[in-house]
Amino acid sequence: MARKSKKKGPGAEKTRSQKKSASPSSLLTPHPSPAFTKAWEGRFTESTDPEVERFTSSFSFDRRLYRYDIQGSIAHTEALGRAGLLTEEERDTLIRGLKEIEAEIAAEGELIQAASADEDIHMHVERRLSEKVGEVGGKLHTGRSRNDQIALDLRLYLRDETRTVVEQIRSVQRALIVQAESNLDTLLPGYTHLQRAQPISLAHQLLAYYEMLERDRSRLIDSLKRLDQMPLGAGALSGNSFGIDREGVARALGFSEVTANSLDTVSDRDFIVEFLSAASILMMHLSRWAEDWILWASSEFGFIALPDRFCTGSSMMPQKKNPDVLELIRGKTGRVYGSLLALLTLLKGLPLSYNRDLQEDKEPLFNALDTVKSALRLLADLVRQVSFKKERMLEATGEGFLLATDLADYLVLKGLPFRQAHKVVGKIVRRSLEEGRPMEAWTPAELQAFSPLFEGDVIDCFSLAGALQRKRGPGGTAPQSIEAEIRKIKRKLKA
Ligand code: ARG
Repeated sequence: MARKSKKKGPGAEKTRSQKKSASPSSLLTPHPSPAFTKAWEGRFTESTDPEVERFTSSFSFDRRLYRYDIQGSIAHTEALGRAGLLTEEERDTLIRGLKEIEAEIAAEGELIQAASADEDIHMHVERRLSEKVGEVGGKLHTGRSRNDQIALDLRLYLRDETRTVVEQIRSVQRALIVQAESNLDTLLPGYTHLQRAQPISLAHQLLAYYEMLERDRSRLIDSLKRLDQMPLGAGALSGNSFGIDREGVARALGFSEVTANSLDTVSDRDFIVEFLSAASILMMHLSRWAEDWILWASSEFGFIALPDRFCTGSSMMPQKKNPDVLELIRGKTGRVYGSLLALLTLLKGLPLSYNRDLQEDKEPLFNALDTVKSALRLLADLVRQVSFKKERMLEATGEGFLLATDLADYLVLKGLPFRQAHKVVGKIVRRSLEEGRPMEAWTPAELQAFSPLFEGDVIDCFSLAGALQRKRGPGGTAPQSIEAEIRKIKRKLKA
């Protein structure tokens, strides 16, 4: 946008910054200094040191909040109108100005970020408003502080972003369900200690990821409850003197209630800590899943093939195809944990109420959000595109005595206490290893040497599909258990 705003607001005197900004674009205007035009200039006798200005500015990153800042300012303007602090005309002028600024910032993109030296997004919007509408712009901040303003902006922003993340989790879950449905009888070894343990279906493994994500979803949704309080009206720390209708502002902004204590309101960042905690747990899950699939993509496992567009090669080794996306999901988990730790550390020593330290809450939050959102977006796509190498999976079930527990269970059903059954089968496994012979190769007659309880029907134990079938209780790996689980999930997804 060009600086069309040379037109002055109704009856406004040119302010110093207006005179200064006669250049074609306000956005290219360097900071209004050297003469200072800070909101607090009344009390000060010199301009801010340029290094201090750089050190204290948050505009380069909190600019991201502009929509929410303006949304909050519009609701506040309406409340000032209701409180009789603005005429209808003044109110409409301010709202029109704010909407214009929103459109300008949306259109300007990066330019504004590079050019503006305003301390933060709040001062930027306020300065632009006064440039646009003149002196009446100075009424916007009545009964408000940046302390309650930023608390509001962050809540509005995080409410939207949390909902986005919740939706993104759903997309990954839907993709998992589709893959699970077509892999009810795809057999592979389940692992404990990364050693082959018992046969499971691929669907079972995929639904495990679903459940981890379901807990993440519910944690995030739960956090929205505590986010759902409107801070504006708390002022700098003690409230406002103008009888601002806080409930009305809350309604206008879609909050169920207003925050209770103004001191707490301007110093509280629990909602960010809570989001980052949930995000850290989510990333921990994604990282574990990524680790599974990094292993699965190796020649040693060979259980999946990743699409080329999700991998990169090596600059030196021509044969390489590396699972970079998965590795970076695992790797970037560290920065989300870092954000959580940054916030907890930031907050632990702060006295009530607002302290400038709190400005440091934003970059870790934004960084974590960017990371979580791209990880989820990529994973949803990856789940749809991955190809499962079912023969390799089946082949892997052939070794590792996956059915040893089933053999012990057989003896239990014949009346042997489990501990003894375990010992008997342990001996069979040892002999099998010594003789280099798979356990399935023992005949019922030979097995009787280990225990007289073995009968002809023991060969039923040696079927993988049979082993799956036996796990048909709720939560087990039997196809019918998984089917029931998927039916339940689908009902939930529809609701
Ligand atoms: N940029 C500040 C922040 O992010 C806004 C509040 C500044 N308040 C103040 N009293 N300096 O927290």
